[in-house]
This record gives sequence, structure tokens and C-alpha cells, in this order.
Amino acid sequence: MRPVWIDTDAGFDDLAAILTVLARPDIAVDGISLVAGNTPLDGVVRNACRMKAFFGWRAPLHAGRDRPLLGPLVTAQDVLGEDGMRTAGRSLPDEQAPLDGRNALAAMAAWLERSEAATVLALGPLTNLAALLLARPDLAARIGEVMWMGGSADRGNHTAAAEFNAFVDPEAVAVVLGSGVPFRMVGLDACRQVPVRLADAAALRACGTPRALLLADLLEGYVRIASPDGSRPMALYDPVAAAALLDAQAVRFDPMHVAVELAGTHTRGMTVCEWRIPRKAEANARVAVQADADRVRGRVLAALAGKEPS
Ligand code: BDR
Ligand code: CA
Repeated sequence: MRPVWIDTDAGFDDLAAILTVLARPDIAVDGISLVAGNTPLDGVVRNACRMKAFFGWRAPLHAGRDRPLLGPLVTAQDVLGEDGMRTAGRSLPDEQAPLDGRNALAAMAAWLERSEAATVLALGPLTNLAALLLARPDLAARIGEVMWMGGSADRGNHTAAAEFNAFVDPEAVAVVLGSGVPFRMVGLDACRQVPVRLADAAALRACGTPRALLLADLLEGYVRIASPDGSRPMALYDPVAAAALLDAQAVRFDPMHVAVELAGTHTRGMTVCEWRIPRKAEANARVAVQADADRVRGRVLAALAGKEPS
């Protein structure tokens, strides 16, 4: 079993990514750590505890950092709604599974100490991982790979230049990149190649199970982020990173040197991707450049429907 740790800010696309990974029987999700991002940490914890209760997850949930390494927290509640899920009238049921008592950094450290070539799937700001690597730089050598949904080689989404997860904690991105851990970045450019539509929500609803009905409503709310009438497709974000982890054919990566802007007046959080490797720089990451939309979407929607992965 391949050991995986998931770090998340527990929005709807995070949920879809987690369900996509959990659909695979050859992957052991050993823990899920929570980080402030889409909402303040208490909202992230509430969402994750509800998800765990509804879907019956076994992996322990650990609360992590409630703010970025520097400065105040910026959330996405203006786009995603108060609960960070843009629930369009339908929420996760209220029942909550308990958090594990150990905080995220202690739990991740203990997991890395006992795991070989461990994979971290990071679906939010990189604050937890960066804080861990600052406190325990020796653990970098135990990480086989970080797969991160974040950044962009092109336009941003939270600002013109910066993707949301990178914007929330650019210093954390810099710490993780500087740590030397093998790093794959699934940025907005690749995610924008995987649109989801109201028709996908309708197909999910047609499965008719309580799980599919809930997820169809949440997916519909997610699609309506792009346009309230649902006429425009919405990019899948976090699930593209999950698919890349599970399926080597799903997403193509190129080696690049990624630097994150920490100071720009208009560009803080921008991930500057130097693709002229090795002529201009040495690669410190692999960056997603091409996603197979049908393959990614098919895998994710099958997982949401609770079907066996093909
Ligand atoms: C990222 O920001 C969050 O709102 C999503 O969950 C995703 O991780 C996309 O920019
Ligand atoms: Ca996320």
C-alpha cells in the first residue's frame, strides 16, 4: 500500500479530491491535516468533521495552522460562501466525527518518521507543511513527493497574478520549494483544462444514492461559482492533483524552476515558472502542463458516484 497524507482546507473540490484518492484500494490515506484557507480554521474543521462522519472515513483528522506563516489570513469566503462550500441550499449533514487530539504538525512528523517514500497531497495553502519543515528540516528527506494543487504558470484566480493557495501563504511555498523535497505543482493552467458542468451534476444525481444526491447538489453549487445560471463550465481544481497522483496518464508534467513572488505590489503569491531548463535555471519542480480532461473528470465523477475505479 502506498502511504499518502492529505493536507486540506476542506472545500468542495478538496472533498472531491479526497474521495477520488479514497476510491483507490491500493492507497492508504494515513492521515488528513487541516489548514486555514477557504475559511478560517474552525470552518475547515467543521467541514472536515462533517465529511468524515457522512462518508465514514477512517483516516484521523488533525487540526493544523490557523493562519499563514506571516501576516493575516485571507479566505475565499467571498467566492465560496460563508462555509467555504458554496452549498446552493444544500449542506453537508450536521453530524460531525471527532478530530484526533494530536495537532497536525506532531501527527505528520510521527507519520513521516515511520513511513518510507511518503507522499503528501496538499490541497490548500502550504502552511502546515512549511511549518513542519521549518521545525524539523530533517524530515524533508523522508518525503518521497509533495503533490500540490496551487500556483499557476499563467494567470491567477485570487488576483490577476496569483492563485488562491499560493496567495494565502507565499512564504510557505518558498519554504517548501527551498526544502528540496520532490515537488509537483498542479496549477491553474492544467486545472482550467478540466471543466465541469451542470450536466455532470445531473448525471451524478441520476445515480440516486444518498451519497450521489448530496454530492450532485454540492457539485452543482460548485459549477455555479463560474456563473450563477450554470451556463459556463467551472474548472476542477484539487481533484486534478488527486488524479495526477493516481494515474500517470492523467496529467503531463514538465521540469521547471518555480519561484514565488513574496514582495510584488501587484504580484505577491505569483508562481514564476522558468521553463527554459537547463539553459536558464535548474529544475526544482515538475509543473503540470497538460491534463487529459476526459480521463481526470471520468475518474473523479466515478469516485463521487461511489463506483469502482477502472
Ligand atoms: C484552490 O483554492 C481553493 O479555493 C480550492 O479548494 C483550491 O485548492 C484553487 O485556487
Ligand atoms: Ca483546497
